[in-house]
Amino acid sequence: MYDLIVLGGGPAGYRAAERAGAEGMKTLVIEKRALGGVCLNEGCIPSKTLLNSAKIYDYANGYGEKYGVSTTGAKLDHAFVVNRKNKVVKTLVGGIGAAMKKYKVEVVYAEGKISGRTANGFSVEADGKAYETAKLLIATGSEALVPPIPGLREGLAAGHVLTNREILDLDHVPESLCVIGGGVIGLEMASYFCSAGSHIEIVEMMDKIAGPTDREISAMLQKHYEKKGIVFRLGAKVVEVKPGEVIYEKDGKRESVKAEKILCSIGRRAVTANIGLESIGVACERGAILTDDQMKTNVPGVFAAGDVNARIMLAHTAYREAEVAINTMLGRKDSMNYNEIPSVIYTNPEVASVGETLDSAKKKGIDAEERKIPMAYSGRFLAENEGGEGVCKAVVDKKSHKLLGVHMMGNPCSEIIVSAALMLNRELRLADLERLVFPHPTVGEVMREFIFD
Ligand code: NAI
Repeated sequence: MYDLIVLGGGPAGYRAAERAGAEGMKTLVIEKRALGGVCLNEGCIPSKTLLNSAKIYDYANGYGEKYGVSTTGAKLDHAFVVNRKNKVVKTLVGGIGAAMKKYKVEVVYAEGKISGRTANGFSVEADGKAYETAKLLIATGSEALVPPIPGLREGLAAGHVLTNREILDLDHVPESLCVIGGGVIGLEMASYFCSAGSHIEIVEMMDKIAGPTDREISAMLQKHYEKKGIVFRLGAKVVEVKPGEVIYEKDGKRESVKAEKILCSIGRRAVTANIGLESIGVACERGAILTDDQMKTNVPGVFAAGDVNARIMLAHTAYREAEVAINTMLGRKDSMNYNEIPSVIYTNPEVASVGETLDSAKKKGIDAEERKIPMAYSGRFLAENEGGEGVCKAVVDKKSHKLLGVHMMGNPCSEIIVSAALMLNRELRLADLERLVFPHPTVGEVMREFIFD
């Protein structure tokens, strides 16, 4: 009998198991693939490993000349990059395994399925064995959405259509790549393969890339990548896929893009099928498990954290949800605040944001205004980003000047955005920024300029 069974060993699952183990709960994790889940094995970490090689290559391949550093004969060895990525993943997955041992968490590598209620809790089956637990945390994550667009699933089976999983293990750089969906995965992969030498075309249904990103920033990012040779086809809905061809509808007309490989990056869906939710009556909405802000499901004793609840599909949201779930199980007061979760697109330049955009604030009826500072106001940014364009925007309440959102483009905004999240968390007003001392010279100190805009 376990105190807790965690179904799924990704960021939500392993973080919850660590915390539960540290609190003395007898904990079992059931994982069908590898600890670390999508984030570590086929998402966040592998893609960042590739993108770092692309950044180094870009410097060697001409960009360095802007800094007086030139190189000849630079080449990107894609097989080496993928190999290094595998080593990084192996090290990190090993680290999670070690953490499980440290916190005395048991791990079963098998597909787990909830099989029903027992006198004292729930029963879960894995590898032909039944395990009983008092509490259950469902953390089965998400998988690439592959809708029934004619030819898409067949293409995936034949290997010319890829998802985030297959593209990270490609054994060569394709001559051309058509990316369906100009969201986070599409842009990050386009960024790597563009630097690596592929001709990239992005087909996006909306009139802008990067989903809910601030409109001006998404246009700046698009312009940057257009200069690098990426072709964007916006307002273009993919309706059919053939080997080497993506067919889309734009303004009522059918057009197509030819490409050696096709990346399908049009979103993700929660993994809720075939895990036995119906055996205990866990409620779902649009395919994801319904949870409250303590990660409780409709079934007492059953929690769900991470992508499986589809609240915000980000690994760092999953970590925090896992902590909230464990604290709630232990009777401690804790809950999620989804308004202050930063998000980053790891293109080069990076894009980072937290809180409301001007558009989202207006939609909520908030009387908001924008403060906008060019990143070039930061001496450090200018020193390190020759010819680089960047911007830092604050969305503030018009009357109180309380910060409602911060949006940035420019390196290294992925590292800066957490201080903006903290400002939102502390409910700072613009005038409060004057009392904060930012280290000089840093790119982040540009935020202090909001006061003077
Ligand atoms: P996404 O939701 O970010 O973007 C999908 C895009 O595909 C949307 O812009 C949508 O308009 C477009 N689309 C949908 N159907 C289409 C069609 N038929 N034709 C053309 N365009 C179409 O999804 P993505 O990029 O697959 O990422 C999935 C998840 O992974 C996201 O929730 C994201 O948060 C997470 N992720 C986060 C990363 C990060 O934090 N840096 C990195 C990678 C993934």
